[in-house]
Amino acid sequence: MAKLHIETKTRGIETADSLYGLFFEDINRSGDGGLYPELLRNRSFDDGIYPDDLTLQGEGLANANGWTLEYHGGEGQKRWKEREAPTEIPAWYAERAHMELERKNTLNAKRQAALAVSFEPGGRIYNIGYCGISVNAQADYHLYFFAKAKERMELGITLESGGRVLCAEKLAVEAGDYARLDCVLIPEESATDARLCLSSAAGGELLLGFLSLMPTDTYRGHGLRRDLCEKLKALHPAFLRFPGGCIVEGFSKSTAGRFKRMVGPVWERPGVINLWGYHSTEGLGFHEYLQLCEDLEADALYVCNVGMTCQARNCILMDEDEIEDLLDDALCALEYALGPKDSEWGSLRAKMGHPEPFGLKYLEIGNENNGKDSEERYERFRKRISERYPDLVIIANTHVEEAGLALDIADEHFYDKPEWFAENAHFYDTYDRKGPGIFVGEYAVVAGAIRTLYAALAEAMFLVGMERNQDVVKLASYAPLFENVNYAAWEPNLIAFNGSKNYAIPTYYAIKMFAENKGKYVLNSRQECESIYAPYLKGGPCLVMSRGVSFCNARWKGEPVSAEHELFGCVKELENGVSVTDISEDAANAEQAGRFGLADMAFVTLGTDESSRAGSFEVEILVEEDKKIGLGMFATPYGKARNSEDSPWNLFAVQPIRWTIEGKESRLTAGVGFRTYNLAEPAPIELACGVYHAFQMESDGKVLRCKADGELIAEVELPHYDEIQTIALEDGDEIIVKIVNIADEEKPVEICLDCEVCGSYERGILCGDASAVNTLEEPEKLIDRWSRESGAAKHFVYKAPASSVNVLRLKKTAGGDENGKI
Ligand code: AHR
Repeated sequence: MAKLHIETKTRGIETADSLYGLFFEDINRSGDGGLYPELLRNRSFDDGIYPDDLTLQGEGLANANGWTLEYHGGEGQKRWKEREAPTEIPAWYAERAHMELERKNTLNAKRQAALAVSFEPGGRIYNIGYCGISVNAQADYHLYFFAKAKERMELGITLESGGRVLCAEKLAVEAGDYARLDCVLIPEESATDARLCLSSAAGGELLLGFLSLMPTDTYRGHGLRRDLCEKLKALHPAFLRFPGGCIVEGFSKSTAGRFKRMVGPVWERPGVINLWGYHSTEGLGFHEYLQLCEDLEADALYVCNVGMTCQARNCILMDEDEIEDLLDDALCALEYALGPKDSEWGSLRAKMGHPEPFGLKYLEIGNENNGKDSEERYERFRKRISERYPDLVIIANTHVEEAGLALDIADEHFYDKPEWFAENAHFYDTYDRKGPGIFVGEYAVVAGAIRTLYAALAEAMFLVGMERNQDVVKLASYAPLFENVNYAAWEPNLIAFNGSKNYAIPTYYAIKMFAENKGKYVLNSRQECESIYAPYLKGGPCLVMSRGVSFCNARWKGEPVSAEHELFGCVKELENGVSVTDISEDAANAEQAGRFGLADMAFVTLGTDESSRAGSFEVEILVEEDKKIGLGMFATPYGKARNSEDSPWNLFAVQPIRWTIEGKESRLTAGVGFRTYNLAEPAPIELACGVYHAFQMESDGKVLRCKADGELIAEVELPHYDEIQTIALEDGDEIIVKIVNIADEEKPVEICLDCEVCGSYERGILCGDASAVNTLEEPEKLIDRWSRESGAAKHFVYKAPASSVNVLRLKKTAGGDENGKI
């Protein structure tokens, strides 16, 4: 039976109040049409317009260094576009009317286009929003727009759904210059597929400069979508990191994140095409983010660009002037948030309705940048900013202290399979206590069991590890936060929504349970339990080695095997049973190999076994100087491919344990693609060149042995993790015990305390079928449920259900329960 020993007499480390927070990035159309509840898509007609530093390449937009974004004339991803009938001006349609973009006579200098409409009598135009406009019966929706006409024109304004008029208004555009018109629309019926129609009975010509349609009922009256903000508030976030993420970096000089672009009246904000495939109005701008922080009672954590674009998207370095400009932009942002109301930017804040400074506490300089260029820029930003704002907590997005630079906190990001999180519950145990604080700024299970309870359990195990190390880990936020289900560019996300509903994945409820039960001190505790050997270690053998390597007699479990899936390169059969690895003639295969620095390699699976967790792989290989030898085991794809059109036999999914011999060194590693790590220290090996050697990898599912010509070269225990993770915390006279059971069976845990507790206790639990998920239709299948339980004692057995996150709140007592009974 598993055991948990808890010492309550001496306190361990203090808990970090700041630990659980949020990271918002405008991804998956989570800003416009989401948290920022603009109901009209392409309200300023910019969606099909792109900046000069990008070039159109087919359906994509390429940056100066050739990285291409899926664009489709401003509709974004191909699969988004397929949901709606194509139109020249995204989201806008015309009936007995002609529409075109007017590029000169715009509302103001920041607007790139107006919509020129020529109505026939009875003609109309309409906007379909984000896959339909969602409205509630009898609720108020505020419509305003700027329009210009040469002659007075009466416009009919309706919200319609399935041919029914939900509400109707009339507004008259007077002849003359652009003027603003406002009205409130109150639909008689609810609908999720409504459209906003503007019609003209008499016909005529009109220029529309900008429109907006929003619900008037918003979170704390500050303009953001109520149900989504309430979901955030329920997590008790200590901070909010914004606005990104990769969008802060941008993918060209003009698309890099800038504060100055996202303040002031929304119709004067130019907006930006972001690297998730769509134009953002930045109506959800700097002020709105800060106001949200205040409304959530969360500290603001602003991320600024550090003078370079996204390094994962063929990075473009800013030149001297541009770096200065971005540094100035960051300083202006700080003045906007923190400066007095009579300062240049503080006065704009006051004009926007917030004379008092906002509580901006953290500044993160850059996102996912690394290397010399980034460090130089970081240091320049840090120095200048800290001189002016010495109390700001400075976050670096890599470990810049290794380059001798100052920082308060380093941001680390983890996207991996569930088992990685379970295996790394002790990740922070060995961190230098004198080093910088750690911000786990982005983490998520992104492979295999995404969105499931199983993923939540694995992440919760990692969170337990973070909680045990709160003297080092100061902040943590899951990523990404939101997804409009009709526009996913990244999966999974913490909260998914459409126009009317939302749901959160089980991870959300695990975070909520932990954030609501932080305690004041971590207590010293020790757990004893069984291990689980990583279930993804399954399947047959593979070869990952240089091209031009000859081999023969490949056998798996004693049976001959031959090439099955050629991920990179290929295998050619020669005479006498000898095969040789070669470069593939398939261009896509070769291109992928090149991208991962494996251009001269072949990665080929052998045989058809996709399920064995034990076995022996034998093969004879001709060893030659300058040729890399590589054997692998457990070469089955991890989970399904994200996009069902893709073959799962790809570098991301197939991650065998790999034995590589290069020169005189033998290495045993896990993974192939982005994240590879050593399972054992590299060891010396001596093999004569020009002759065949017999290699063997064999495992019983727990231990792996590698032999060359019968000699044992390496022996390692396979990746595994504890079946439960536990922590105990003190909260006044209560002891909080958190137990995560990732096993698919109930685990009795003997809890051994050194003090008496009441028999009756409060218990929160998140549990169910490990593969279960929440959905829009069943949003609360997996949520935390709280109840009063009995049976706690100084020593007692708590039965943690299969696949569960448990929080027990035990009350210390001098002896006996609250009724004095023992
Ligand atoms: O969370 C999605 C992206 O992942 C973020 O934009 C980026 O920081 C990371 O690569």
